[in-house]
Amino acid sequence: MVIHRRNVQVLISEGEILRRVQEMARQLEGDYKGKELIVVGLLKGACPFLADLARAVDLDIRMDFMKVSSYGSGRESSGNVKIALDIDSDIDGKHVLVVEDIVDTGQTLAVVIKHLQASNPASVRVCSLLDKPSRRKVDVSADYVGFTIEDYFVVGYGMDLDGLYRNLPYVGVYGDRG
Ligand code: IMP
Ligand code: MG
Repeated sequence: MVIHRRNVQVLISEGEILRRVQEMARQLEGDYKGKELIVVGLLKGACPFLADLARAVDLDIRMDFMKVSSYGSGRESSGNVKIALDIDSDIDGKHVLVVEDIVDTGQTLAVVIKHLQASNPASVRVCSLLDKPSRRKVDVSADYVGFTIEDYFVVGYGMDLDGLYRNLPYVGVYGDRG
């Protein structure tokens, strides 16, 4: 295990991520070909994944963003999820794909899906780079998942610890992994 930064060990390498992004892009092309698709990235964590995924898909998409804050810091989301920035697109009758970095308890996604569904879209699906199913508190799931992982606190490729490490090109585990 290569230690690239203090306390961060590589879990999923840059190469593995980019290969998986290509596979997911092919799947999305099959599912959304000929459909009007708006991709909604969740700030800030989904930015690197969204940037790579959007450039990998051969589809005419629109991009929009939401920011959801959970008023927690460090490793735990508080569950008190609020929409801090909403999309400005009209999604009525359109297909929406929410792009997220990681689904943990599911509380964020539950709020986002409910909010988007209120605007009468043709469909709402979720594409998440990572999924930590063992942590789920709310019954939601992503339709497209890059990698399912154990209950590690991960950083990099968009994910942070107190704002740091989002720019690492790989996903790493923060702290000791046993
Ligand atoms: P949820 O509402 O508990 O599903 O939390 C989702 C959000 O928590 C994600 O969008 C991430 O911003 C953050 N999060 C959850 N797990 C991790 C992690 O292991 N590392 C960094 N951020 C995480
Ligand atoms: Mg976050």
